This record gives sequence, structure tokens and C-alpha cells, in this order.
Amino acid sequence: MGYLLITGGTGLLGRYLLRDLMDRQQKLAVLVRPSRRQSPHARVESLMQSWEKICDRSLPRPIVLTGDICTPDLGLSPTEIKWVVENCDSMLHNAASLSFVSTGRDAEPWRSNVDGTKNVLEFCDQARIRNFHHVSTAYVAGCRTGLCKEDELDVGQEFANPYEESKVEAEKLVRSCSFFDTTTFFRPGIIVGDSESGLTFTYHNFYAMLQIAWTLKQSLTAHLEPDGRTNVSYFRLLADGTERKNLVPVDWVSEAMATIIADESLHGKTYHLTPRTPVTTKLMCDVIQEVLNLYGIQFDPVPADVSTMSDDEKLFYHHMQVYESYWKDDPEYDLTNITAALPNLPCPHVDSAMLANMARVAIAGRFNWRDPRVAADVNLGVPEEVNQPNVVKNPS
Ligand SMILES: NC(=O)c1ccc[n+]([C@@H]2O[C@H](COP(=O)([O-])OP(=O)(O)OC[C@H]3O[C@@H](n4cnc5c(N)ncnc54)[C@H](OP(=O)(O)O)[C@@H]3O)[C@@H](O)[C@H]2O)c1
Repeated sequence: MGYLLITGGTGLLGRYLLRDLMDRQQKLAVLVRPSRRQSPHARVESLMQSWEKICDRSLPRPIVLTGDICTPDLGLSPTEIKWVVENCDSMLHNAASLSFVSTGRDAEPWRSNVDGTKNVLEFCDQARIRNFHHVSTAYVAGCRTGLCKEDELDVGQEFANPYEESKVEAEKLVRSCSFFDTTTFFRPGIIVGDSESGLTFTYHNFYAMLQIAWTLKQSLTAHLEPDGRTNVSYFRLLADGTERKNLVPVDWVSEAMATIIADESLHGKTYHLTPRTPVTTKLMCDVIQEVLNLYGIQFDPVPADVSTMSDDEKLFYHHMQVYESYWKDDPEYDLTNITAALPNLPCPHVDSAMLANMARVAIAGRFNWRDPRVAADVNLGVPEEVNQPNVVKNPS
């Protein structure tokens, strides 16, 4: 078995995938870009140290390749390209921009999700990588209603935001490649924290809502009642409370993907990684109210007239606007392939207690996860013996 090259290993899902794939003895190489403060090697070393602390055991390390999917050849050096050609036989493309807003086709999320995927595919062709695993999203369904099958993609649907549309284009690019032996598509629902520990490393969607409520509760005019609760009737959501949202715990998404990747007989299909029972927008708001000791969140499916709002209402409205599309009712996701592949690994049911635990963990960490600091000179790159200067840049 060769190495699996993975993108997006420093993100929420990617971190779990690094842990779970290595637990299955999968040899891993991870493409990482530098952050403002850390080299790719230090970033990976520090997240692996976080895992070792959380799991209380030592873990192996992946090979780290410095690169960026938005650059031709993924920004890899000739030495690194040579190493990939000689060692990697499959790719897990997980990196993406999760931006819901865009200033145009040259900006995010198009840049990483479409142009980046194009670069990744061209690189795989050149490097003769033949098995491709692609992380898409259940929200390629856009504004569809009714049943969405795992083998459907573009049925002329509209989209709630550029992110959804960019992920459809990315899937189309992968599906148009004829040089892969197998292409496997993973379409998770909305990824939330760990079903057991409540741990998360990023704070999108449900957490963003929670964080807005948490921040505003502290900064706005307090409407504190004698029982200690705060009245937040100025929190008005463009929803009626019945909308279904497909929240999935990150540990399950990662375990399901790692199990499928490790079993060749399960490759070549599209998998909806969504729960059997979605949560409602009302349940999400109930949890936010419970953990923050609030009451009074209003559901109002009719767009509000901003000119008649109080200052508190306006502040909440402006913070929430980017998430407007997030409140729409989800379609029903067909689970045929995932149920047949993993009959004994159903998605854990995200109920009120599980969601409240995730919320409390996020609040306790003040919506801010920090990995330990590590030495800047840590080296997890390609092994020394392949560091030869005369490497063919274009291997084909
Ligand atoms: N989160 C969800 O609710 C959700 C739901 C459905 C599907 N998905 C899909 O799941 C995948 C992982 O999402 P996530 O939630 O883990 O996202 P995330 O936490 O935001 O992580 C995104 C990852 O992609 C990397 N990345 C982005 N642009 C890159 C570039 N130009 N070059 C190299 N790396 C780049 C990021 O690297 P940096 O650390 O350097 O920024 C990070 O490792 C994505 O494909 C996403 O579309 C996510």
C-alpha cells in the first residue's frame, strides 16, 4: 500500500482524518501551507501533539509537504514532486474554503474550491495518482426540496450561496476526469463537534450562531430577569423553527470516511454523510437559550423591516445576515450507499443533550482552540534520501 496524499489536514475534519487514517495504519502525506506564525511542519507537529494529549497515547507522524492548492504543481518543490510520484498512489482532497460570501470568481470560495481542485486534479494526472477521494458537501443539493439521491448532482437547482455552487463545480471537475481508476465522493452534512467529548477546532454555522448570542449577551443592553435569565426577544431568526438541519458529529464523519478509504471494495461511489434524523432550527435555538440562560428568541419567516428595528435588533440582524441562507429547510438525503457500506456505523443522533455539550465545550474554550507551541525547526518533510537536486519537474 502506498501513501495517501491529503489536503486540508489542518482543518476541523482534516485533523480527525489524520488521526483516524493513521490509526488504520494508512501511510499519510499531508499538503499544508504556512500560517502567519508557523511553518507547515510546525503546524502539523503541534496539532499531532494536541491529539497525543487528548488521546493520551503517542501517534505516528505524517510526511509534511509544503504547498498550496491554489498554485500550479500545488507549490511543491521538484524533490517533493519526485517523492509523491514514487510513493503516493491515492489522494484525499479535503481542502476547501467555507466562505459563504464572495466578491467574485477570482476570490474565495471559487479560488480554492474550483481553481484549487483543478490544480489538484492536474497534479494527480501528472503524478499518476489513480485513486481519488473527494470531500464535497451534502449542500451541493442547493435549494432542492424532496429526496436527493447520492448519484445526483446538477439537476438545475438554485443555490443559497456561492459556497454550495463552487462545491458543485468542483465535483463536476472531478467527475469529468477519465484518468482515475476510482473516484469516491463524500458529502457530509453540517459538521459539528465530537459526539463524545464535544470538542471542536472551528466555529462555523451552529457555533457561529451560538457565539453571536454569547457575545451580544455580554455586550448589549442587558434584559436581566430576577431569575437570572436574559430576555433576548430582539434575536429574530428568518425561520419558523421547523426547518430541518443535517448536523453530523466530526468524529463520525471521519470514522466513516476512514473506514471507506481503508476498504477498496467501497471505493467508486458517492456517500451522503448525513444523519437519519436531522435536528430542527427550534432545537438548535432551544439549546442556545438553555446553555446561555436566555429566553425569547423569535422566529419570523418574513424578512424584517430594518428601519423599524431597535438598536439591539439591528445589531443582531447585521451579525446574522451572512447566515440567512443557513436557516432554510434541508431536503431529504438518500442514504442507500452509506447504509449499505457501513451498516454497523450509523451516525450518532445529535439530540439536545449532545448539542448542549458541544455548546458548553465551545463556550468553556471561549470559541478559541490553541495547539501547543512547538519548536520552529521540527522536520516532518520528505525523508533525506530523496533530497537530490536533479529531479524531473514534470514526471509524465
Ligand atoms: N464544516 C462543515 O460543516 C462541512 C460540511 C460539509 C462539507 N465540508 C467539507 O469538508 C472539508 C473540510 O472542511 P472543514 O470543516 O474541515 O474546513 P476547515 O476547518 O475550514 O478546513 C479547511 C482546510 O482546507 C485548507 N485549505 C483551504 N484552502 C487551502 C489552500 N488554498 N491550500 C491548501 N490548503 C487549503 C485549510 O488550510 P489552512 O489551515 O491553511 O487554512 C484547512 O486545512 C471541505 O471540503 C468542506 O467543503 C465541511
